[in-house]
Amino acid sequence: MRPLVLESLATFAFRNLVEVSVTLGPSFNVFSGENGQGKTNLLEAAYVLATSKSFRTSKLAELGAHGADVAGVRGKFREGPDYREQSIGLRGAARAPKVDGKRPKSLFEYAVRSPVVVFHPAEVALSMGPSAERRKLMDRVGAYLSPGLLVELESYRRAVRERQRALEVRGVSARDLPDWEALVVTHGLRVAEIRQRAATELGPRAEQGFARIGTPGLPLVVTYLGHAPADEASFRRALEESRVKDRARGAATVGPHRDDLRLTLGGHVAKGTASQGQHRAIVLALKSAEIEVVSDARGVRPILLLDDVSSELDAARTEALFRFLGAHEGQVLLTTTRPEMITVGTAESRKDFRVESGSVTPS
Ligand SMILES: Nc1ncnc2c1ncn2[C@@H]1O[C@H](COP(=O)(O)OP(=O)(O)O)[C@@H](O)[C@H]1O
Ligand SMILES: [Mg+2]
Repeated sequence: MRPLVLESLATFAFRNLVEVSVTLGPSFNVFSGENGQGKTNLLEAAYVLATSKSFRTSKLAELGAHGADVAGVRGKFREGPDYREQSIGLRGAARAPKVDGKRPKSLFEYAVRSPVVVFHPAEVALSMGPSAERRKLMDRVGAYLSPGLLVELESYRRAVRERQRALEVRGVSARDLPDWEALVVTHGLRVAEIRQRAATELGPRAEQGFARIGTPGLPLVVTYLGHAPADEASFRRALEESRVKDRARGAATVGPHRDDLRLTLGGHVAKGTASQGQHRAIVLALKSAEIEVVSDARGVRPILLLDDVSSELDAARTEALFRFLGAHEGQVLLTTTRPEMITVGTAESRKDFRVESGSVTPS
C-alpha cells in the first residue's frame, strides 16, 4: 500500500513556532529538544495541516502565537505519484483551508483527505478515561469508513441541542419538540450505524494486536456499546418518555452521544481493573487497529505522529512500540527529549532535527 508522505512543513506564528520550514524524510523523522521548546507544537502543526483540527485543543484561537492576528501552516503532501499543497490559515477561531490554492468543498472533505494517526501520552485515556475518548476514536475511524459521518454528527448534535433548549425554555409539551426529536432519531441512527461499523472494524484488529503484546491468556474483547434504541419507533418513544427527566437533568439521556466502546480483559471492564502496563498495551492495540482501518478505508498508509516517546522509560512498553514502529511502512514524525533512546530507523531511513525555542533545524 502506498504511503502518504508530508515532504515539507512550514508554520507562521503557530504557537511558539514563529517561522519554521522543514524538509522531512519519507520514513523516520525524530525531533528532539528540552521541554517547552515546541516539539508538541510542531506535531500539532502537522496535524492541523492534515485535518484542520488540533489533537490537544478544541479552541482554534489558542493556536495563533500570542499577540499575532493571523497564523498558518502549509505543507506539501505526496500520495503515490500525486503531489498537493495544503494550507490552513488561522485568524482567531476561524480557519481557511486550501488544497492547491483552492478552498475545498467542505471542512469535512478536507479533514479526511490526508490521514494521520497520533499517539500522545494522554492517549492512555482511551483505555482508562471517560467514554468520550473512545467515541472520538470510533468517529475518527468512522469518518474514513463513511464520509457522511462528520456531517451526520454535526446535524445530530445540533438536533440534540435544540431539543434540549425547547425542553428547558418551552417545557415538555413544546410544539417544536416532535420535529427536533425526529431529527435526533434520523441523524442519531445514522451515527449509531457508522459507529457500529467502526467498532466492528476496530474490534478484531485490536483484539489480535493485544494478543501479541498483552498478557498471555487474558484476551481483550472490544464491543460497541450503543445508546441509541434499535429502530425509529422505539427511539422516538424513548425520547418522548425521557422528556421530563432530560429537562430536570439539563441533558439528553438517550442517544449515541452516550455511546462507548466496551473494552474487557478476561471478562472484566478494563477501566478500573487493568494494570498500567495492560492499559498501555490496550492503547497500543487500539492505535494500531486505527492505523489498519484507516489504511484499508483510504487505501493509503497514514502518517504517524508520536509525541514524547521516551517520557516514561518503561522498557517493555518502549520495546513493543519500537517493534510496532519498525513494522510501519509509512512516514513517522516523533518527538523526544531523549534521542539516544530512539533506536528506530537506519542512517538512511532516519532524519534528526533539533527543536529549540521555537526553531527547528536538521541535526
Ligand atoms: N499561542 C502560543 N503563542 C506562543 N507561545 C505558545 C503558545 N502556545 C504555547 N506556547 C509556548 O510553546 C511552548 C511549549 O511548546 P510545546 O511544543 O508544548 O513544548 P515541548 O517541546 O515540551 O513539546 C511553551 O513555551 C509555551 O509557552
Ligand atoms: Mg511536548
